[in-house]
Amino acid sequence: MKNDKGSLIRPVPLPHSASRPVVTPLSPSVVYSSDTPDALDAQYEGRVQGYTYAREGHPNADVVARRMDALEGYENGTVLGSGMAAVSAVLLGLLKTSDHVVGGNQLYGRSLRMMAEDLPRMGITTSLADPADVDAMAAAIRPETKMILVEVVSNPTLRLADIQGLAQLARDKGVLLVVDNTFTTPRGFRPVDWGADIVIQSLTKLLAGHSDVTLGYVAARDQALNDRMRVFAVTTGLTPSPFDCWLAERGLLTFELRYDRAQATAALLADHLATLPGVKRVLYPGRPDHPDYARAQALLGPQTGNMVSFELNGGRAAANAFTRGAQGLSFAPTLGDVGTTLSHPASSSHRALTPEGRAALGISEGFFRVSVGLEDPEALKDVFTIAVAEAMEQG
Ligand SMILES: Cc1ncc(COP(=O)(O)O)c(C=O)c1O
Repeated sequence: MKNDKGSLIRPVPLPHSASRPVVTPLSPSVVYSSDTPDALDAQYEGRVQGYTYAREGHPNADVVARRMDALEGYENGTVLGSGMAAVSAVLLGLLKTSDHVVGGNQLYGRSLRMMAEDLPRMGITTSLADPADVDAMAAAIRPETKMILVEVVSNPTLRLADIQGLAQLARDKGVLLVVDNTFTTPRGFRPVDWGADIVIQSLTKLLAGHSDVTLGYVAARDQALNDRMRVFAVTTGLTPSPFDCWLAERGLLTFELRYDRAQATAALLADHLATLPGVKRVLYPGRPDHPDYARAQALLGPQTGNMVSFELNGGRAAANAFTRGAQGLSFAPTLGDVGTTLSHPASSSHRALTPEGRAALGISEGFFRVSVGLEDPEALKDVFTIAVAEAMEQG
C-alpha cells in the first residue's frame, strides 16, 4: 500500500492463500462491507448468504451453533450471549401477555427469578411444580398454558425430572416442552430424543468448559420458533461476541473427552465420599442409593454426570473448615470448569431461602455440591479425605 495520508485506515485485502486454516479464524469485525446496494439487497432478501452486522450474526457464532446442533440433534439453533440469554429468548421471545408457563420448582435461580418477577410484570402468569411428579405438573396446567420449562437434573439435590411423563403431558395438552440441558449436557441426555420441543444450554459450563466464556444456545424443532427467537435475540441484543464463540469452539472440541473423564472421576469420588466418617449422605445419580436411581438409569444410562452432592455432619463451622481444608479446589458457585469446584448452596444459590425452606429441599449448612473436574482421581479423593477430616475436627 502506498504510504500516503490516510493509508493506515484503509482496509488491506486479506493475503491470498491457496491453503486453508485448520482452526476457525476469529472474525471480530462488527460490520461487513458489500460491493453494491444490489449485492446488499441480495443478502437481505436471502438470495445470497452474507453477514452485515455482528449483532445480527457472525461466522464464529454460526460455527458454534452448527457444532451445537450436531451435539443436540436440532437444526438451526442460535448461540446467544449467555445461558440466561437463551432462557430469555424462550420465555420473553415466545410468550405473550396472558400466556401461562409451568416451571420446575428447582430451576436455576435466575430462571426462577424470571418466572417470579419478570414474566408476571409483562402479564405472563407462572406456576412452579415438582418436575419429578407429572401429576403435580399436570395439575398446574391451565387453558392458557403455553409452555413447560424444566431441567433434567435439579440443582443441587440432583433429582431427576420425569421427562418421559412430561413429554407425554406436553403432547396431550398441546404445550411446548422446554428442557434446560445445562447440567446433563448432550453427552448425558439429548432432549430431542425424548420429545422436547426446545433445548436450552448454558455453554458457559461444561461445553465450553474452561470458565472463560459466558455463552448460551437455544434450538427448537419448529423452524418458525427458531426464527422468532433469533429475531428477538437480535433485536434485544442477546447475541454473543465473536471472541467468546471462538473460545467456546475451542472448548467444544474436547468436550466429550472432558465430560467422560470428569464423570468417571465423579463416580469414584461419590463412592469414596460415602466411605468417609463425617459424611452423612452422598447424592450421585449413578449410585443405587440415589432416590431416583431407576429414572437416572432410564434417562441417562451410564452417563450419570460430573455433579456430586454430599452432606457433612455439622453446621457452618464444619463447612468453613471443609472449604479451607480442600486445598487446590476452587470454592466458587459455578460448574463445568476443568478443575473441581465446590459450591455451598446455603451461602450462595439458595441463600435467599429461609433455613426451613432449605431444609424442605434437604439443604443444610453441611450440604455441598461438587462439580468434578479433570484432576487425578486418586489425588482428588485424598483432598476430600483430608478436608472432611478437618471439617470433623474443627466443626
Ligand atoms: C441450569 C442452568 N441454566 C442456565 C444457567 C445460566 O447460564 P449463564 O450463567 O451462562 O447465563 C445456569 C448457570 O449456572 C444453569 O446452571
